[in-house]
Amino acid sequence: MSTSVNKDYRVAIAGATGAVGVEFLRCLEQRKFPIASMRLLASARSRGKKMTFGGKEIKVEELTEKSFDGIDIAFFSAGGSISKKFGPIAAKAGAVVIDNSSAFRMDPSVPLVIPEVNPQAMCTHQGIIANPNCSTIIGITPLWPIHKVNPIRRLIASTYQAASGAGAAAMEELEESTRAYLNKQPYQQKVLPHPYAFNLFSHNTKIDPETGYNEEETKMLRETKKIFADADIRISATCVRVPVLRAHSEALTFECERPITPREVTTLLSNAPGVKIVDDPEKNYFPMPRDASGKDDILVGRIRQDTSDPSGKSIAMFVAGDQLLKGAALNAVQIAEVLIQQGGVHGQ
Ligand SMILES: NC(=O)c1ccc[n+]([C@@H]2O[C@H](COP(=O)([O-])OP(=O)(O)OC[C@H]3O[C@@H](n4cnc5c(N)ncnc54)[C@H](OP(=O)(O)O)[C@@H]3O)[C@@H](O)[C@H]2O)c1
Repeated sequence: MSTSVNKDYRVAIAGATGAVGVEFLRCLEQRKFPIASMRLLASARSRGKKMTFGGKEIKVEELTEKSFDGIDIAFFSAGGSISKKFGPIAAKAGAVVIDNSSAFRMDPSVPLVIPEVNPQAMCTHQGIIANPNCSTIIGITPLWPIHKVNPIRRLIASTYQAASGAGAAAMEELEESTRAYLNKQPYQQKVLPHPYAFNLFSHNTKIDPETGYNEEETKMLRETKKIFADADIRISATCVRVPVLRAHSEALTFECERPITPREVTTLLSNAPGVKIVDDPEKNYFPMPRDASGKDDILVGRIRQDTSDPSGKSIAMFVAGDQLLKGAALNAVQIAEVLIQQGGVHGQ
């Protein structure tokens, strides 16, 4: 996808200094996004910090209510409470807000968009467009080409989520705690609830006492239904944090309406946008977070019949994708590109 309308846009990034924020800068630069000006926003802690964009140093400003005056597109990745407070202010000031937090995702008036899946949803935006949860994007972008031709009726997802999903401080915690462990030194974790080095644990979000699902799992369940516009798809997820620095992996088992073979799935995904097949049983080479890190595409492999379903309607596969990119910054920049093509941003 590339931008085709010949205008430049005044862009702001709220949360520019964070794990997603720096990826925004990289994506916008790499994709030659048409930028007239760039405003970098973060907390008072980062005021005056210099970041480089397009070969120039830009000073980070403190996010305030005035930050969005004269802005055409505002990317938000500073947490849900910041989005809730400043998103509507930015939209009122005339910017289109593309929000990475969970603040507006399930609001019926806010489109929840993966450009490869439901670009049409953003036509009705009212100033705010939501980027889905990272595990949802990584899991369901490769499922969409299958769902379109042979609807998925049931999905079971197990995630293996990287430190980067919890932000820059969690990545640091994984590195520091691993170093301490190897040096046989004590380490007190500050960001995540459990020791991270050489360990894994259930996703660090609250459990709903009624369902037993944590917030990350609930997001996958609800957001998939909204993005696929399919309220009947049955989903269960188990989300786990693993000691990987960057890129989420997921084991996906799904049952379609009609019988389906691994070969059919491979054919459907071979030409699908945003997806790359990595499936070499002879070499035992399949998607790995290491290979997915820094890449735009979601890697898909281990495509095989689910032998627990004798009807032949079920497939098991494994995916890995960089959730700072396709799960966050890249998806948001793609949304902005499509929006520009649709004529949905003013620009200069
Ligand atoms: N990490 C992911 O893979 C991922 C994926 C999808 C969505 N998201 C969402 O994106 C958002 C950011 O995630 P992240 O991983 O980039 O977190 P992060 O690394 O912790 O970065 C947080 C950013 O928010 C800024 N911020 C914090 N408090 C602020 C305040 N009071 N006012 C203004 N700015 C403030 C921070 O600025 P300072 O540097 O000044 O503190 C920093 O730029 C979250 O809503 C997260 O759920 C993350």
